[in-house]
Amino acid sequence: MEKQLGVAVVGLHEGRTLLVALNHPIPAVVGIAKEQRRRVSAARAVAGCDLDPRKIESARAACPDLFYTSNYEELLRRSDVDIVAIYTPDAHHGRHIEMAMAAGKHVICTKPLVNSVDDARRIWQAAQKFGRKLLVGQSTRFFESFRRQRSAFERGELGTIELADAHYVHRMDWFYEKSPWAASETDWVFLGLSHPIDLIRWYLGPIERVQAVASRSAVAREYGCQAPDIYCVNLIAADGRIGRVMGHYGLHELPSARNAIELVLYGSQATSMAQYHDMRYFQSAPDGTEMQHDMLYQQRAYYFNNEVHGMHYGEFANYTQYFAEALLHDRVYSPNLAEGLETFALMEAVRRSAVAGEPQAVRPLLDEIGLP
Ligand SMILES: NC(=O)c1ccc[n+]([C@@H]2O[C@H](COP(=O)([O-])OP(=O)(O)OC[C@H]3O[C@@H](n4cnc5c(N)ncnc54)[C@H](O)[C@@H]3O)[C@@H](O)[C@H]2O)c1
Repeated sequence: MEKQLGVAVVGLHEGRTLLVALNHPIPAVVGIAKEQRRRVSAARAVAGCDLDPRKIESARAACPDLFYTSNYEELLRRSDVDIVAIYTPDAHHGRHIEMAMAAGKHVICTKPLVNSVDDARRIWQAAQKFGRKLLVGQSTRFFESFRRQRSAFERGELGTIELADAHYVHRMDWFYEKSPWAASETDWVFLGLSHPIDLIRWYLGPIERVQAVASRSAVAREYGCQAPDIYCVNLIAADGRIGRVMGHYGLHELPSARNAIELVLYGSQATSMAQYHDMRYFQSAPDGTEMQHDMLYQQRAYYFNNEVHGMHYGEFANYTQYFAEALLHDRVYSPNLAEGLETFALMEAVRRSAVAGEPQAVRPLLDEIGLP
C-alpha cells in the first residue's frame, strides 16, 4: 500500500470539509464502484483543532476516530502529523504557518496565504530557516471545470493566451454574520480576489504592474467593513499581455447568468471559459462550434458530497492528494510558497493602487518581502 501522510486541520469550519473529504468515501454514485470511492490515497486525516468546542463536536460527529484539541501547540507536538492544513481567519495564517514549520511540519494554507507584508516576510523567513514545504490551497484551480481548462491549455488547444478575464462575485452578508473578522481584520482584495488574481497569474506568468479602482457596497457599509468590497483591476504581465479581474461582495446575485467564479481565456487558437459553482466548461472548436461540458451530475458526489452546491470536498481532496504525492515523491508542485507570496504581492499592489489612485509596480513589493 502507498505510504499515507498524516494531516491535521486547524480551523474546523471550512476545515471540517477536509477532514470529511480525507476520511469518508464518496457517497454512493452511479458508475463508481464502492472500492473506488476513496478520494485520497496519499494522505489521511489524523487530528483536528479549533478554539470553539462546538466546531470540535461537529467535526467529531463526522469523524469520530481522530484526535481533537483546542490547543494548537498540542496538535503540533503530535508525531503522527506530517502536514498541517490551516483554515483559521486570514490574519492568523502567518503565525500558524510559522508555528507549524517551526514544529517540523509541512503546510497546506487555504487562500489567502497571508494578508500583510509582515506576515509574508515572516513565513518566507520561516521556510528558509526550517526547510519545510507549503502548498497554497487555491481551491478553484482544483475544481473540475478549471482542471479541464488547464488540460486544454497544456495540450495546446488554446494557443497563446492573449487576454485573460476572471471574476469572483458573491453576496457576503451571511459571511459577516458568521465570521465578523471578515469586516474588521482583512480586505476583500485578499479574502475574495485571491481566487481570480491567482488564476490570472497562473496563465499570464509574472505580472509587472497593476491598476485598480475600488468602492464599497451598501452591504459593506451596513456591516462596517473597513475596506472596499468592490474591485476592478487591470494586470499587465511582464511580457505585456493583459489580465482583468473583478470582485463584488455586496451584489444581488444572478447565479445562472454569472457564476460566482469564471475565468475566460482568449487564446490565439480558441476561447475557453471555466465556471464555479456550476461545473461547466466551454470551449470554441476549430470550426467555431461552441462546445459545452456540464459535469455537475456526474461529479456532484465527488465535489459536493451530494450536499450544498458550493461545498469544497473535491477541491480540498484534490489538492491534498497532489501535495502529499509531491512530498512523497519529491515532485515540483504549484502554487508553492514563492508563487503564493508573489500572488500576495499582487493583491497588496492592487490594494495600494486602489488607495493611491495610481498604477503600482509589483517588484518593489517583492523586495519588501525579501523574495529574490
Ligand atoms: N474556497 C476556499 O478554499 C475557501 C472557502 C471558504 C473559506 N476559506 C478560507 O478559510 C479560512 C477560514 O474561513 P471560515 O469561513 O472557515 O471562517 P470561520 O470564521 O467560519 O472559521 C474559522 C475557525 O477558526 C477557528 N480559530 C480561530 N483561531 C484559532 C486558533 N488560534 N486555534 C484554533 N482554531 C482557531 C475559529 O474558532 C473558527 O471555528 C479563511 O482564510 C477563508 O478565506 C477558503
